[in-house]
Amino acid sequence: MTTRWPTGFTWGVSTSSYQIEGAVAEDGRKPSIWDTRCRTPGKVANGDTGDIACDHYHRFGEDTALMHDLHIPAYRFSVAWPRVLPNGKGATNEVGLAFYDRLIDGLLAAGIEPWLCLYHWDLPQALEDLGGWTNRDIVGWFADYAALLARRYGDRVKRWATINEPSVFTLFGYAMDWSAPGQIDRTAHLKAIHHVNLAHGVAVDTLRALVPGARVGCIHNRQRVIPESNSDADAFAARKLHAFWNDAFPEPQLNGVYPAALADDLAPFIRPGDMARISRPCDYFGLNHYGPIFAKADPAALWGFAWGGAPADAPKSDIGWPIFPDMFRDELIDLSRRYRLPIYVTENGCGGRAETGAEIDDPHRIKYLSAYIRAMRAAIAAGADVRGYFVWSLLDNFEWGSGYSNRFGLVFVDFATGKRTVKASGRWFSDLIAGRVDI
Ligand code: FCB
Repeated sequence: MTTRWPTGFTWGVSTSSYQIEGAVAEDGRKPSIWDTRCRTPGKVANGDTGDIACDHYHRFGEDTALMHDLHIPAYRFSVAWPRVLPNGKGATNEVGLAFYDRLIDGLLAAGIEPWLCLYHWDLPQALEDLGGWTNRDIVGWFADYAALLARRYGDRVKRWATINEPSVFTLFGYAMDWSAPGQIDRTAHLKAIHHVNLAHGVAVDTLRALVPGARVGCIHNRQRVIPESNSDADAFAARKLHAFWNDAFPEPQLNGVYPAALADDLAPFIRPGDMARISRPCDYFGLNHYGPIFAKADPAALWGFAWGGAPADAPKSDIGWPIFPDMFRDELIDLSRRYRLPIYVTENGCGGRAETGAEIDDPHRIKYLSAYIRAMRAAIAAGADVRGYFVWSLLDNFEWGSGYSNRFGLVFVDFATGKRTVKASGRWFSDLIAGRVDI
């Protein structure tokens, strides 16, 4: 007998604009901060760029057909802000807006529910030139951008996410130089955190006001932060990293307060009324989860912590990410109790390295996904309110600083030709959704 999932449980796959679209200079799109980063020597493996990526801008019809063939019911994607507002604000780009019309219409025609994320890290470079997330004006720019998309697509799109993984792009972009804009500075980091939170809050209000029946949430990456050793210094490092990684966004957004470990640092940037503007009611908690993080003290680092290593004997994926499905189960149970919101797992998946068609047979990914979906089933059985699960990712794609060397897709992409081939994991996921296989 196959598992019975809660009624209405949503199965889907996720992608993001910069990682798949390509066509970075076409039809009026202007650069994002990731175009800039890709052109900065040493920032992306092999000098890879998103210039072509999966060429999804031209092949979106084929990608929609692939999802249709696999009977995938929901698709989470993001809009490239610099495609629809090339300067980030002001004049809109009709051709860019029309691209997402065609994508959304194609999805709906194929019976696939669109889940639209406003921001998955590709900030228009023109806004970065004005200070980007460190400039408080971005709250208004983001509200205007949200309103543009709400008015344009709100008749057809009801599932909205404001921001993908705010903790990750702020930490990596302003404290660790693993992400754009790579401006390593405490004040910049703190301002960015607060402005991203404010932008989320205003976008929630904007979407709700303009889209009847909208279901709105933010997408957070949450996972256990474990000290690399049992030293006091590593324990302190892990607590600080935990505050930035796990609490700096959900706590103000859903409980109206910053975590105690960051409150003093952030206080200078908070104006009267800000916390109320941030903590607008959300309809769901979007959870991206892969595996735990290990932290260690590093006095030379901006905040005194750095990424530690997982124990040598920890199970790991091909790309070295630790695999601990029980921690996923515990995270779901804890989150469900803590915020009392329906949870959608908006990303979970397994990276592989193989560069050839051999990756098409990917038992390691099926094993990983089975274990994590089993853990989710256990969390649901224990009372966690989990309503959906999206695999990262539909396609092998541009994996940020790792370029094309890390493959997460259910569908293999030959980056030389653009050819797509469904992997064994893609067929397996399709069978799972259909109840033809169990976990
Ligand atoms: C997440 C990102 C996503 C992808 C996966 C592997 O942190 O949201 O874009 O890179 O990791």
